Formats: sequence, structure tokens, C-alpha cells
Amino acid sequence: MSISKAITKQRVIEHYLPATVIPVADSTDTLFAPSNIALCKYWGKRDAELNLPINSSLSISLAHLGSRTKISVCDSDQVWLNGSQIAANDKFAAKVIAFVDLFRRGADHCVKVETENNIPTAAGLASSASGFAALMLAVDRFYGLNLEPQVLSAFARMGSGSASRSLYEGFVEWQMGIREDGMDSVALPLDCRWDDLRIGLVKVSTAEKAVDSRSGMNRTVETAHLYQSWPLQAATDLERLHRAISDKNFTQLGETAEQNALSMHATMIASWPPLLYWQPDSVAAMQTIWQARADGVEVYFTMDAGPNIKLLFTADAEAAVKQRFPDLEVVAPFA
Ligand code: PMV
Repeated sequence: MSISKAITKQRVIEHYLPATVIPVADSTDTLFAPSNIALCKYWGKRDAELNLPINSSLSISLAHLGSRTKISVCDSDQVWLNGSQIAANDKFAAKVIAFVDLFRRGADHCVKVETENNIPTAAGLASSASGFAALMLAVDRFYGLNLEPQVLSAFARMGSGSASRSLYEGFVEWQMGIREDGMDSVALPLDCRWDDLRIGLVKVSTAEKAVDSRSGMNRTVETAHLYQSWPLQAATDLERLHRAISDKNFTQLGETAEQNALSMHATMIASWPPLLYWQPDSVAAMQTIWQARADGVEVYFTMDAGPNIKLLFTADAEAAVKQRFPDLEVVAPFA
């Protein structure tokens, strides 16, 4: 394929679309995509326009927790979130419509995009991954595009990097790819179940973070010398996670995920101005986890660009973990 030099999302997408798109029905049914949590994180972009990562990453999807999205023909462009209409000049609404525009390309119709997130807001979990994945599925259905799963993953990635992984259930690897147009930077599911694996969501704060992940990544890549060690850390951890998953070695899975998250945060802390998403309660939760391990309860954590903590444990440790975190929301990703 040949796409001209200045590669933009629009150009990449146009290559895969018919000359004009029209809605194939007045309304789609509701399309669901799960939220996901990375065990080996995506941190740093080699291309900011296309959200192409510097490293491959590996996540686990959160089963029934995620986003449901429906698109209908409407008199004016409208975005609805959890039953309320969002002002057109709101950042969220603007991002949703800009994504639809990549496919609509000026065609003469308006859309109503309705999204419901069932991710517990109390857990302070980001919803952009499931949100853009569900939006991509709805766009595909609305215009009758029938795109291949890998193309859906690549296009969802252009909305939000981690959305590339939210097209699938279970363990998912997002392969970084090397192509300039990014069409090999796609997620693929791992053929493996782990029925007694559990994820616990620990709420520290639900306030909107001051620095979003896009700006956080850029700042780290541009200013932290420590970032130079990140691609090697991620590659090593990815390999270890693959082995841990195929051997069902929970200790190796937990240790690798926790070290990976802390290594990512180390690069953020070493940026300038410094970027520290932790709050005192995040550190208190870490200390509770380390004490639980010292007491023989096998629980590990991971955390993203925010103060909240996600626990990893197995079903047999659930009661002991809940004793230490009474408000824990527990997810069984393979249920
Ligand atoms: O997809 P984004 O732009 O929201 O970035 C996600 C970044 C992390 O959550 C910190 C890591 C990851 O792999 O999900």
C-alpha cells in the first residue's frame, strides 16, 4: 500500500474505506467493549498522531466492565454519556465526534452517539480504552464496514492507544509494530484462560487527574533520562509474562506486573517537571499489600497514570485480601 509522506489518521483510515460511507440503518444495536488493565504497560509513543507505541504491551480485559455504545442518525451531532447529553464543546464530546468524523468525512448526516460505562466510577478507572473500542465497533456497524478485527484494533488505537487491546476478552498483547502507517501495531488475544485469577479495584481518588496520560507520556519521553531503560524493561517483562501465563505461574505474573508498573512510575517521577500520580493513600495501599505478602497472602498490584491501585490475586486469597481492603470491587476476568 502507499500512503503519502505526511501520514495522518485520516489518510490511513481512508485507505480502507469505500469512497463514500452512508449509514446502513437508522440506528445500530448496542456494541460492548471491555475495559482492560495492562500487566506490561504501554508508555511512550513513537508516533503521536497515530498513537504508535515505543513498546509492546500486555493486558487483561475486565469481563463485563466496560462501555456500551450505539450510533443513530440524528438532526444534529449529539453525544450522550450514561443517559445525559454532553455539551458539544465538552472535551469528551469533541473527541467522540472527531473520531466519527474520521469515517464520516463530511458526508451529509448527523449522528447521536450514546455511551454507557458500567465501570464503577468509584474505582476511578479510565474508560477511554473501552470507550474508543466500543465506539469503533459501533462505527463499523453503523456504516456496514465489516472491517477485520486487526483493522478495528488499529483504528481504535488511533482514538486511544490502550483501546487497541479492548477489542478482546482475556489476556491481550498489543504488538508495537514497525510500519510507518501503524497497520501492524495491533492487539491480538492470547489463547489462554486463567479461571481463578482475580482483579481487585482499590479506589484512592476519582478526581480528574491534572496531567492526562498523553501529556504524561510525552513529558517522560522528552525529559527523563531514565526513560531510556524503559523499552528494555518492557521487553523483558513481556517475555516473563508470556511464560507466567503459559505456566500458570501466579507468583511470576504478579511480581512482573508490579515491577513493571513501578518501573513505569519511576520514569514518570524522573521527568521534569516531576510527574507523581501517587497520593498518600496509594502508598498506604502499597504498604498494606507488601505487609500482606510478608504475612503469606499472595497479592500484587499494578497502577496506571492515576492514584488508584489494581490488585492481582487468585480466588483462594480473596477472603484474606478483602479483610485488608474491605471496600474492594473484585472482578473475575474469565468468569
Ligand atoms: O491509552 P492511553 O492513552 O489512555 O494510555 C494508557 C497508558 C497506561 O494506562 C498508563 C498504560 C496502559 O498500557 O494502559
